[in-house]
Amino acid sequence: MLTSSMKKTFQPMASGKFPVIGHYLNFRKSPFHFFQKHTAEQKDLFWFDLFGRKFLVLNHPEAIKHVLINKAKNYTRKPNYQFLEELLGEGLLTTEGEIWKQKRRLAQPFFNKEQMDGLFGIIENSAINFWKERKENQLFDLEEEMSHLALSMLTDSILQAEMDFHFDEIKKHLHFASKHLTTKRFKAFNWQKKLPTKIRKQGLASIEILKEIVAQIIENREKSEHLHNDLLAMYMSTSDVDTGKKLNAEEILDEVMTMFVAGHETTSVVLTWSMVLLHQHPNIFEKVKSEIDGNFQGQPLNGEELKNFPYLKMCIQESMRLYPPVWGFGRKALEEDEIMGIPVPKGVNVNIPVLFLHRNPSYWEKPLTFYPEHFLEEAVKNRDKLAYIPFSAGQHRCIGEYFSLVEVQIALIHLIKNYQYQIELPKTLDLELLVTIKPQFPISFELTPRKSS
Ligand code: HEM
Repeated sequence: MLTSSMKKTFQPMASGKFPVIGHYLNFRKSPFHFFQKHTAEQKDLFWFDLFGRKFLVLNHPEAIKHVLINKAKNYTRKPNYQFLEELLGEGLLTTEGEIWKQKRRLAQPFFNKEQMDGLFGIIENSAINFWKERKENQLFDLEEEMSHLALSMLTDSILQAEMDFHFDEIKKHLHFASKHLTTKRFKAFNWQKKLPTKIRKQGLASIEILKEIVAQIIENREKSEHLHNDLLAMYMSTSDVDTGKKLNAEEILDEVMTMFVAGHETTSVVLTWSMVLLHQHPNIFEKVKSEIDGNFQGQPLNGEELKNFPYLKMCIQESMRLYPPVWGFGRKALEEDEIMGIPVPKGVNVNIPVLFLHRNPSYWEKPLTFYPEHFLEEAVKNRDKLAYIPFSAGQHRCIGEYFSLVEVQIALIHLIKNYQYQIELPKTLDLELLVTIKPQFPISFELTPRKSS
């Protein structure tokens, strides 16, 4: 319960607040326009209100550092990810405190640069097969195809041996499960979340099936004598350095589900926007193409090789600046606090609108332009590190950061080396801000093999 002195603290408050509902109508109508208007008006920090629930928006690196790093213990992420628990159980994304720490310690080595060597070949084969299977001169839906490509690379890396048998099922059921969880997340009232809708029924059934598939794979692997070289094998063989404890089947299942959910749509979104932006900027595309033609002759792409494509990497980073897949996320204050002079009562939510921070003119030379030079070494050095956070920051910084960058680089190198692609954009490129940031209308694309390849 907030006292009257605390009520006075909710300043500065975003304009356009109504009694009872607060900013609900405008927020609901278009989160994009809501944040765009208020981040421009208020600049750094401001409050908004949804049916009395107060949110403090942090559009300043210092405030973000405070919440994600300096006072991270006071800000829980649990309420933000609770909607995923039905599918993820107690995985790395849905736990906190000691349990989370143990899980992170166990998983971290698999995702380190040095340890990922074994996965490069798997990712590359997956990308090669994907592009080969696309027919020439046929119109494809870009978002759907990039979702398929991202899921192939991810599923291959997690469960390589079983992938051929289960890919279509995993794809279908992940789709229904995500649709149910996302729909549930955006319902304003708890009672709405439990209504027996078709989406909910289908989603719950798909969650059961997904869990059965993965549990069966784990059981078969436990009995098998074959050696595997994928993420599941790593999870099954590892034990905690301090306690020596291994993960049980249920814990492994939760981690596999977490990787599917955290690593699928996010990577797909980077692929989609990178392709769109390169298409929209032919001069930049030509520079990427000559970098690839000059440095890629079909040799296996490993960590060392990928260093030869710095401009491509800058383009991908810039694409994640303009269209960060996780466009915003939040925390809840466990105790009263103060952020940059603004009193923060216990229990309120803080919101980090990554998309708008990434377009904040205070930190970017050309905030709304696709300008890969934002990621030249010198520019990065001179900018506040917390002005660019597509993978978050602090203790919960994305564990799959390097992994996903490798996936996107490999996929784009094979695309651009072997094909020309044409994209047909809708008249307006409006954004849909759900868990990730997607184009609101379908975008189609077509592949033609490059003559020289
Ligand atoms: C471009 C692709 C990706 C983006 C933009 C992205 C973004 C993020 C962000 C923003 C967070 C932190 C959210 C917060 O602080 O509340 C996060 C956490 C996480 N991500 Fe990613 N992610 C990507 C790919 C992946 C991949 C490929 C995997 C795994 C295979 C993965 C696994 C995770 C996990 C397990 C966490 C929770 C980490 C922890 O709390 O310890 N992500 N990701």
